[in-house]
Amino acid sequence: MNFLLNQQFINMNFSLTEEHLMIRDAARDFAQTELLPGVIERDNAQKFPDSLVRKMGELGFLGIMVDPKYGGSGMDTISYVLIMEELSKIDASASVMVSVNNSLVCYGLEAFGSEAQKQKYLTKLATGESIGAFCLSEPEAGSDATSQRTTAIDKGDYYLINGTKNWITNGGRADFYLVIAQTDKHKGSHGINAFIVEKGTPGFDIGPKEDKLGIRGSDTHTLQFNDVKVPKENRIGDDGSGFRFAMKTLSGGRIGIAAQALGIASGAYELALKYSKERKAFGTEICNHQAIAFKLADMYTEIEAARMLVLKAAWDKDQGNNYDKSSAMAKLYASKVAMEQTVEAVQIHGGNGFVKEYHVERLMRDAKITQIYEGTSEIQKIVISRGLIKE
Ligand code: CAA
Repeated sequence: MNFLLNQQFINMNFSLTEEHLMIRDAARDFAQTELLPGVIERDNAQKFPDSLVRKMGELGFLGIMVDPKYGGSGMDTISYVLIMEELSKIDASASVMVSVNNSLVCYGLEAFGSEAQKQKYLTKLATGESIGAFCLSEPEAGSDATSQRTTAIDKGDYYLINGTKNWITNGGRADFYLVIAQTDKHKGSHGINAFIVEKGTPGFDIGPKEDKLGIRGSDTHTLQFNDVKVPKENRIGDDGSGFRFAMKTLSGGRIGIAAQALGIASGAYELALKYSKERKAFGTEICNHQAIAFKLADMYTEIEAARMLVLKAAWDKDQGNNYDKSSAMAKLYASKVAMEQTVEAVQIHGGNGFVKEYHVERLMRDAKITQIYEGTSEIQKIVISRGLIKE
């Protein structure tokens, strides 16, 4: 995929390659045959079976961009967003697991980890043999990520971690946790480090699962660290590099969440279009009434605009361009479209839209989190405006 470069209309080719189309179709097929059955029940029960996680691992969805020498699929970011969109059309609880494992955990280790850490952890995470979690948010440090209260005190050959992490995706299911903590409060963002903590380490406790509005199949937990000893070799990168690690990793994460939002919006649109061609009122299918037809036109236009931003951010990452601004723009816009257009999809469905079996109410509930996690919409505007001012 070639794209608009430096505001000049050169090299533009909006078609996906044969390989990209095959990857998209494989994800679509998996979502239809494996994720769709039981999606309502999983949402009600707030559960996601291990068997489905294993299948996603077998298909290479848990290490999409990881180098095959570490067990990954070696695909590009365009492939990643195509997969994310297809999974999210059907089940955003599945796709958030995929997004966190790929963008935050595997990318974080591959880009910043030592060779020994990659051999020990990344090889298992990329194949789905193990699942990862990314632990940055705290009760008092969500948007303000430099204000970490969790501490990691250097004790010579190990660090001692104490603190609490909140809203952690894969919190109960994960085997390995990338934990951001403050090692020197006088150094601000340069006094922060990231560590790999294994499940079962003494003093590391997983709190009860959160009862959420949306993405209810994914498990979200509070984590407690009470004098948790982490070996020195589990620090990721140079001393003091943890904030940069978190920010860089989140920039890529925002591409995954933008693609999730795009999938939620396009899934709701497809259901609304289908319904409007079947449901009759005032003597004709409701799509023939302008009140509905204009809604469909607006939905499709906005979703296509979001798709362009998502693909552009993915393309920037694949080209080695800076993608901080484009990923924040993609997430800001796609999440807004997801929220607004899922509400429209419910409206087009009328009373049926309020009923679980029609799926759109779940997509509407799932959409909201895309405006919150991996940085709220307000945080995306901070990142975008800083990028603009720097240019
Ligand atoms: N790449 C590399 N370095 C970066 C960076 C990036 N994208 N962004 C910032 N940095 C560096 C800066 O260059 C700066 O370094 P120097 O001091 O050497 O100049 C340092 O980090 C501090 O940067 P800022 O001064 O910009 O930091 P700030 O305190 O003003 O915060 C912020 C900036 C954008 C508001 C940031 O705190 C932020 O993104 N907050 C949101 C956090 C977030 O997204 N949380 C989501 C949690 S994870 C999650 O949701 C996962 C899940 O389970 C689904």
